[in-house]
Formats: sequence, C-alpha cells, structure tokens
Amino acid sequence: MTRRVVVVGSGGREHALADVLGRTSDVIVTPGNPGISGSVSTPATELDADLFVIGPEVPLVDGLADELRAQGKLVFGPGADGARLEGSKAWMKELFVAAGVPTADHGAFTELEPALAFLSTMEPPFVVKTDGLAAGKGVLVTDDRGAAEAAVAEYLSGTAFGDAGTTVVIEEGLVGPEVSVFAICDGNSAVALAAAQDHKRVGDGDSGPNTGGMGAYTPLPWADDGLVDTVMQLAIEPTLAELGRRGIDYRGVLYAGLMLTESGPKMLEYNVRFGDPETQVVLPRIESDLAQLLTEAAAGKIEHQPVFASDAVVVVVCASEWYPASSRTGDVIDGIDDARALDGVSVYCAGVEKDDHEQLVTAGGRVLNVVGRGATVDEAAARAYAGVDLISWPGMHHRRDIAWQART
Ligand code: AMP
Ligand code: GLY
Repeated sequence: MTRRVVVVGSGGREHALADVLGRTSDVIVTPGNPGISGSVSTPATELDADLFVIGPEVPLVDGLADELRAQGKLVFGPGADGARLEGSKAWMKELFVAAGVPTADHGAFTELEPALAFLSTMEPPFVVKTDGLAAGKGVLVTDDRGAAEAAVAEYLSGTAFGDAGTTVVIEEGLVGPEVSVFAICDGNSAVALAAAQDHKRVGDGDSGPNTGGMGAYTPLPWADDGLVDTVMQLAIEPTLAELGRRGIDYRGVLYAGLMLTESGPKMLEYNVRFGDPETQVVLPRIESDLAQLLTEAAAGKIEHQPVFASDAVVVVVCASEWYPASSRTGDVIDGIDDARALDGVSVYCAGVEKDDHEQLVTAGGRVLNVVGRGATVDEAAARAYAGVDLISWPGMHHRRDIAWQART
C-alpha cells in the first residue's frame, strides 16, 4: 500500500516537500495553497496518514507535534521542548555553551543598563537579536553603535516585537561565508543532507535589507569536501547529546546556520525546520526515498542513508512589489506553465491565491520559487533564470545574481 503523508504548511518549502515526498507517497498539504496540488483546508489533527511532516516553526514551537503524537500519529518535527531551540535564542545560546558548540560570544539581557554596558565592550559589526520568534526580522547587524543601542532599547521596551523582544541577545559579529546544513534526527543520531547557501539580502551584491531568503543553491563547489562532516561533529552530534541529557527526544530537522570564519566554522543559529528556500534546492537532489527517511527518523531509528545526485540546483525567489517591507497582493501571475515547460525547470508556489476568475494571483511577499537543475551550478542558474524571464506580474522583483559565489 502506498504511504500517505500529510505536510503541514503553505509555502514554497512545503511545495518542495510535497513534490519530493510525492515521488514515493501520496501527499496531502494542509493548508497548502492553490498552487500546490493536494492542498486541503482540514487541520492536521483531523487527518489520517502514515506520516506527518510539519514545515514551519510556529506550529512546532506551539506544540503541534506533541498534539499529533498524543493522538498516536507518527510525526517528523520536534515537540515544543526541542522547538525551543528556535523559539528562544537565549536558550539556544545557553545550550551551545553547555554542549561545547562553537558560536559567537554573547550575552542575554532583560534590562537596559547591563545590556548597554555589555554592548559598550563589543567591536563592530554589532549584532542585536530578539530572543523570541520575529518572522526573520528580529536580527540587526550594523556597524553603527548608535543604531545598535537604539535597537536594544526598542526591543526591550516591547514596542518593536512585543514579548519576543523583551529579552535581547547581543552577539559578537562574525565574518565569513554563511552555509546551511540540514540534519535529519531520530532522537539519538542524525544524518546530514547536502549543504546549501541562502541569499538573505533583497538586492544584488547582497545589498538592502534582510529577507526570508531570495535564492539558494547546492552543492557548494568552493567548500571543503569535509564541510558537512565537520558540522555534524562540531555542532549536530554534541547538540543531540545535550538535548538527550535534558530529556528531549528530538525527531525532526536540525537546520544549522553557520558562518565559516577565519577561526573555523561557528554556529549562528539552529532552526527546528527545513530552511526556505534552501529546501527547494536540497530535496530535489535526493535520489533515495525521502518519505522513508523521514518515517524512520519519526519512528526513532534511521536505517537508510540518503543518497544525493551529483548535479546542481539553483532557486530564484520571485517577490511581490514592496517586499520585504510589505507586499502588494492580487496581481495576476503570468507564465508559470511556460517556465515549467523548459528543460530542467520547475516552479514552486508560495504566496499565491486564486481570484474570482480562478486565476493565480500574488498573495504574499515571496510569491514563486523558480528552480533550475543542471550538471553544474552555471547550468542550473541559467535554467532557473530562463524560467524567471518567462514569468511576470506587476511589480515582480528578484535577484539576478543568485549563486554568484559558485558561478564561473
Ligand atoms: P538569524 O536569524 O540568527 O539567522 O540571523 C539572521 C542573519 O543575520 C544571519 O543569517 C546572518 O546573516 C546575520 N547574523 C546573525 N548573527 C550574526 C553574527 N553573530 N554575526 C554576523 N552576522 C550575523
Ligand atoms: N533560509 C532561511 C530560513 O529558512 O530561515
């Protein structure tokens, strides 16, 4: 009998999960979106399946995995206890120290005076973060000491991010290329997927404000062959051991965001879910059965190692006008079918909905993910951009330089 999988979420990451899980399983996505086939509005707690995969961080932090497990369901995604790694940066940093994981020096504060005193001992770049979830917007990296001080005061006052900001984390600024590594964890052990690189800034040449991510690629031809193994040894394995010592049975993704500094790799953060848009490039390269891997992890014992194709995948995020400050909605999207008809191109849907005429329209900041696949990063990028060039709506914007680090 074919395995039935429910994916929870509604973005491009969930579309990629549904697509790759769908190679071997029947997939339903809740709530999904009108661009993802198999989307249903029934909540996960009212669905039946052999496996539940939870995409976004908010339901994980809110305990959806616990609720589903209490119903006897098999779930890939940590409970609220493990999801605290993403829900509280102060807790995450404390765990890094306890586990001996290399990370930026830091302090966590609830009072203004000690926070400013700590900041006065730091050198630029200054890094100020909200403790709690802030939809990717709670991090300021700046060379301007005054701006950092103002952010500390604003976060702590609760005006900027509400309760998420009333504890702030102040960090040493790290410098170096940033990479994303996803580890699939079964509570005791973990296997790594291929490394990827995201592009956080909205504009070409890494200019402009931070976003949720404007594009990504894999593999990283410039990185050491041993990079993923190093991340497993330095970060993932000690973290799982420390979680275990705290009685936390972590079954889900540990997404390590790290910086390759001159003094070695240092962890910036964990997320407790797959990255968006890195998932859209990493998962298509898996040649083994992803549904089987996630089922084994959810059941507590990974028995099959993932196998990766050697080719390259690049994703370009197409965003609506005004993103990331806000987003313009309701614009009719043209050209998706033409892009999909190209060799080596697929399109995942994120912020979309259907209008009264059943046309797909924009409904969020990051609207579409155009994915190109090829023998090399150059070829994959050329294919992705050939797809992007066929797609349009009023105000659409995207970066032209995704994967510049690996293009020749
Ligand atoms: P986070 O949400 O913690 O991943 O932070 C968002 C982005 O801010 C990261 O992807 C980095 O580009 C940047 N960032 C975070 N922490 C640091 C740090 N300690 N030093 C330099 N940049 C950082
Ligand atoms: N790609 C960044 C994130 O998923 O948080």
